[in-house]
Amino acid sequence: MESFCRVLLFLSLFVGLAESVCNSTDQKLISEAFSSVSGFNISIFKSADAGCPNPSIKEIKLPSRNLSGTVSWMFLRNMSELQSIDLSDNMLQGSVPGRFWSMPSLIEVNLTMNHLGGSVGFEVTSGAVSTSLIQTLNLSRNRFSNSVHLSGFPELRVLDLSINDLRTLPFGFENLQKLEHLDISSCNISGNSKVLSNLASLKYLDVSNNFMNGSFPSDFPPLNNLKYLNVSANNFTGRVDPDKLKRFGTSAFIKTRIFNASKSPNSTIHTHPRKAAPPSPPREHQQSKKKPESKPKALVLGSAIAATSVIFIMGVCIACMYRRRKISKRKQWVISRPTQLPIKIEKSGPFSFETESGTWVADIKEPSSAPVVMFEKPLMNLTFTDLIVATSHFGKESQLAEGRAGPVYAAVLPGDIHVAIKILERNRDVAHADAVTLFHDLSRLKHPNILPLSGYCIAGKEKLLLYEFMENGDLHRWLHELPAGETNVEDWSNDTWELQNSGISSAEKLGWRTRHRIAVGIARGLAYLHHAGSKPVVHGHLVSSNILLADDFEPRIADFGLRGEEETGGTEADVYNFGVVLIELLMGKPGTRETVRWVRGLVKDKRGVEDALDPRLKLEDDLVSEMVETLRVGYLCTAESSDKRPTMQQVVGLLKDIHSPAEVELG
Ligand SMILES: *[C@@H]1O[C@H](CO)[C@@H](O)[C@H](O)[C@H]1NC(C)=O
Ligand SMILES: *[C@@H]1O[C@H](CO)[C@@H](O)[C@H](O)[C@H]1NC(C)=O
Ligand SMILES: *[C@@H]1O[C@H](CO)[C@@H](O)[C@H](O)[C@H]1NC(C)=O
Ligand SMILES: *[C@@H]1O[C@H](CO)[C@@H](O)[C@H](O)[C@H]1NC(C)=O
Ligand SMILES: *[C@@H]1O[C@H](CO)[C@@H](O)[C@H](O)[C@H]1NC(C)=O
Ligand SMILES: *[C@@H]1O[C@H](CO)[C@@H](O)[C@H](O)[C@H]1NC(C)=O
Ligand SMILES: *[C@@H]1O[C@H](CO)[C@@H](O)[C@H](O)[C@H]1NC(C)=O
Ligand SMILES: *[C@@H]1O[C@H](CO)[C@@H](O)[C@H](O)[C@H]1NC(C)=O
Ligand SMILES: *[C@@H]1O[C@H](CO)[C@@H](O)[C@H](O)[C@H]1NC(C)=O
Ligand SMILES: *[C@@H]1O[C@H](CO)[C@@H](O)[C@H](O)[C@H]1NC(C)=O
Ligand SMILES: *[C@@H]1O[C@H](CO)[C@@H](O)[C@H](O)[C@H]1NC(C)=O
Ligand SMILES: *[C@@H]1O[C@H](CO)[C@@H](O)[C@H](O)[C@H]1NC(C)=O
Repeated sequence: MESFCRVLLFLSLFVGLAESVCNSTDQKLISEAFSSVSGFNISIFKSADAGCPNPSIKEIKLPSRNLSGTVSWMFLRNMSELQSIDLSDNMLQGSVPGRFWSMPSLIEVNLTMNHLGGSVGFEVTSGAVSTSLIQTLNLSRNRFSNSVHLSGFPELRVLDLSINDLRTLPFGFENLQKLEHLDISSCNISGNSKVLSNLASLKYLDVSNNFMNGSFPSDFPPLNNLKYLNVSANNFTGRVDPDKLKRFGTSAFIKTRIFNASKSPNSTIHTHPRKAAPPSPPREHQQSKKKPESKPKALVLGSAIAATSVIFIMGVCIACMYRRRKISKRKQWVISRPTQLPIKIEKSGPFSFETESGTWVADIKEPSSAPVVMFEKPLMNLTFTDLIVATSHFGKESQLAEGRAGPVYAAVLPGDIHVAIKILERNRDVAHADAVTLFHDLSRLKHPNILPLSGYCIAGKEKLLLYEFMENGDLHRWLHELPAGETNVEDWSNDTWELQNSGISSAEKLGWRTRHRIAVGIARGLAYLHHAGSKPVVHGHLVSSNILLADDFEPRIADFGLRGEEETGGTEADVYNFGVVLIELLMGKPGTRETVRWVRGLVKDKRGVEDALDPRLKLEDDLVSEMVETLRVGYLCTAESSDKRPTMQQVVGLLKDIHSPAEVELG
């Protein structure tokens, strides 16, 4: 009899059934539990053993059974022997009540690939005896959305919550000391990864494709235990050692702001900038990108470049945010040369390159027939072939950003020239000669405070622009994307915000002197555009994200001279926008209309102006009067009536008077 039972048992396992002992109650509970589930047939839980027709059920194994409807989980809860549930790959709906999870015998639960929603887990109230014994829990690919409470699962070893709409990190990680496998990828989670850093037993960690922040590696579990790690597509910052990069693979870090912290002087930027690309571009960029689309008339190359260059600049800025480590500080950061493997270039075109969102095609027969014109280095004799090589065949690894108007790549050209290459995807129909004229005109604008166009290449219909790479990113990020809530600059960790260049200490990073110097620099650059030529070059879109910071924190205005006059509103509009940037610099808050109106009110009424200042600036009490004075300049610039606004030349004078340049020099 016993052996007969065993055979049966084996058979029942074979058809996906439960291991069982004789007990009649479980069948009842199961049929109650699944009474609202279509596709369910209780007969598979019935034993053919006449002596034991209703065995006690330890396992419910019904994967891929086309089950739909709602399980009444509370009946299952009363099955005292049930250890394992696999209802994966069905179409079950509804939510799982909190009490279900604390069911005493349950060890393994697999509900992946269903339409289940609601919350997961239960809050352990003090004195509650019931904690879950579950060790393996796979809830991936469902619709769980509410907060997940894990403190009641101290035995958990494997937890897969991937592809649910959790939005927040689960609570109670501190209780999961046995957790070895954690997958919370693609859960729309925002929050800081620090809570994961105490998961000492973790061997597998996938947090990819969320909106999480945190610095790498300090806000992560010990890397040495980890066999698999994927942090890609998140807002993490930091650096990764080459050996870890190798161990976990480059793709584990893409689309973050984590850098290859290679000690080698030839350290690569391959993986960094792309990681840098944020899931969504800053608002200003999106707006300015939209403009040319809605105005077909304005589709002169100029405005088109304006649109695309914004995106380019975004890419550059993002890429620039990342500091190389101190060791490799001696030179400019370095973009890696392509791998030593010879890159195979097809003999004859057209050449097609894949980006994340699509493909672009250089329709030329012979890549070496398309010259790269470098304005400053006319003898370089580069061609499109060199760009292909320098970007690893415009590979995704070299891609800095993916704008709607076209991709941007990082490259080191022969002669150690570091550039960002922007493909003007939307300008294929602009005539070759018109493009050349415009590019040359642009290249003639030169001032220490404006970002020059370094060169271009026209390959078939594709127009590629080459720009110098900027060290410290853009002013918008610098001002607004520092660790939130920090008012004490001394506390900013170098890991998350390392601007250790040029001897600028963390306190000075956002200190008044630096900000004043930036204000003067922007004013100078703008004054140059307005007053240097025979007729003013109107910027038309001066915002903090269009101001890049060079390695010495000298500001460089980007995205200038590209808009038709009808689009810009004249130099007075630039002065107004400068005033807004100035207010932003002083308040450390984005210069919205409301902000500007508020500050103007304060200055006008001569009261509470100090309160408007960025709290981070107030560390320097003795300089507050200078800041207030500068805010007044911002007030003048933002005058409602454009003829009341000063000229940029006057602004430069006013700002210089506030603080003498000699004092402005940094340590
Ligand atoms: C359940 O399965 C048994 C045997 O596999 C079959 O005879 C019976 O018709 C099924 N019942 C339903 C409702 O499908
Ligand atoms: C799955 O179940 C649905 C009804 O719930 C039914 O319409 C469908 O035909 C079933 N599919 C398969 C493959 O059995
Ligand atoms: C489960 O068992 C408890 C007693 O142990 C009983 O009070 C409850 O009604 C049962 N629930 C179900 C759904 O059978
Ligand atoms: C049969 O199962 C029920 C519910 O799982 C349980 O309460 C009862 O003690 C079991 N009886 C035996 C004889 O195992
Ligand atoms: C759960 O079910 C899925 C799909 O049927 C399967 O891939 C997986 O291996 C199962 N087990 C666990 C522990 O997730
Ligand atoms: C969870 O189920 C999915 C199938 O949806 C599977 O790919 C994954 O490997 C499972 N997770 C674990 C930890 O087994
Ligand atoms: C993440 O959020 C987006 C937008 O709300 C939604 O479309 C998507 O389905 C969510 N992802 C998951 C896995 O639920
Ligand atoms: C990280 O993200 C959370 C939630 O989005 C936010 O509250 C917090 O300020 C962020 N921290 C940093 C350092 O950006
Ligand atoms: C990490 O996840 C991303 C998706 O977000 C995927 O493209 C990449 O291949 C993964 N990397 C590894 C090492 O699994
Ligand atoms: C760095 O690059 C130079 C030439 O660009 C090469 O000679 C040198 O061997 C490289 N060093 C390393 C460590 O790769
Ligand atoms: C990181 O830098 C090291 C040292 O230059 C290099 O060998 C390695 O290929 C780089 N890793 C990636 C993924 O670019
Ligand atoms: C990334 O973090 C910055 C602040 O550090 C925040 O402003 C930005 O919105 C975040 N991006 C995403 C996609 O969460």
